[in-house]
Amino acid sequence: RIERAIRPHRLEDYIGQPAVREQLGIAIEAARKRGEALDHVLIFGPPGLGKTTLAHILAAEMGVNLRQTSGPVLERPGDLAALLTNLEPRDLLFVDEIHRLSPIVEEVLYPAMEDYQLDIVIGEGPAARSIRLDLPPFTLVGATTRAGSLTSPLRDRFGLVQRLQFYSVEDLTYIVKRSARILGTPLEDSGALEIARRSRGTPRIANRLLRRARDYAEVRGDGVITEMFAAQAMQLLAIDNKGLDELDRKLLLTLIERFDGGPAGLDNLAAAIGEARDTLEDVIEPYLIQQGYLMRTPRGRIAGRLAYQHYGLPEPARERSAD
Ligand code: ADE
Repeated sequence: RIERAIRPHRLEDYIGQPAVREQLGIAIEAARKRGEALDHVLIFGPPGLGKTTLAHILAAEMGVNLRQTSGPVLERPGDLAALLTNLEPRDLLFVDEIHRLSPIVEEVLYPAMEDYQLDIVIGEGPAARSIRLDLPPFTLVGATTRAGSLTSPLRDRFGLVQRLQFYSVEDLTYIVKRSARILGTPLEDSGALEIARRSRGTPRIANRLLRRARDYAEVRGDGVITEMFAAQAMQLLAIDNKGLDELDRKLLLTLIERFDGGPAGLDNLAAAIGEARDTLEDVIEPYLIQQGYLMRTPRGRIAGRLAYQHYGLPEPARERSAD
């Protein structure tokens, strides 16, 4: 897959997130010098910012295998036990969506993380026995879109907790240029900037838009991604000049027009636009909140001033707080 080729494989090729890069870089070098497994790492942040990419980089930098699974896949303690008992020393186990682990599986994880020990119950009823197995030292890398829904005993067992931030337009411009180089696609600076500006601070979106702009430039032009072709390709995808797409538009306009700008409860809003509550909360909202189009308050969601301006709608007269 192209996705795989575009992904950076080393920390030095990872663009942006300077604090994360520096902290992980030090932890990796120290663990390697001591010949130990890297401490457990929790990575959180909105989708598409590079959580999985970072897990792959950690394994590559440590020179160990990466085993990958996800919270909902681990239904029973035995599923987790099978993975843990097959690890080699210092291997990395990546658990995506770790906030969706079932409580009984989570219980098994605690002693595994803390003491590299596995307590499992075999058999049932009076014949049931508990056995304890020693595990090789390993690194658990957990990823989640919501740090808030992790239980604190689980959270407390991670030695490194890293929050990924939305990327700046500058960082996204570098990422798009690097990807274009790997794809062998000619890309003008102004074309790269146009794509970066409209990527909602998210490398996964930037790389997707790059591929759509490449298609467009190859079909409508001579293959060079210029600012004009990038802009036209995104117009075709209904991505506006701030990078907001149809879903963003639907959410903000519904909030303004049907809920008088809010406050509207998350469930009401999700029902009104026909999306799952989780999609709204994890995928659509974070960027809108970060940019100031939307606000999360205890009484519900409120449209920000920027949302009215962006869609050319009059702002309602609200009591103003001191600006
Ligand atoms: N592709 C996705 N995320 C990236 C990043 N942070 N740096 C470089 N390329 C990327």
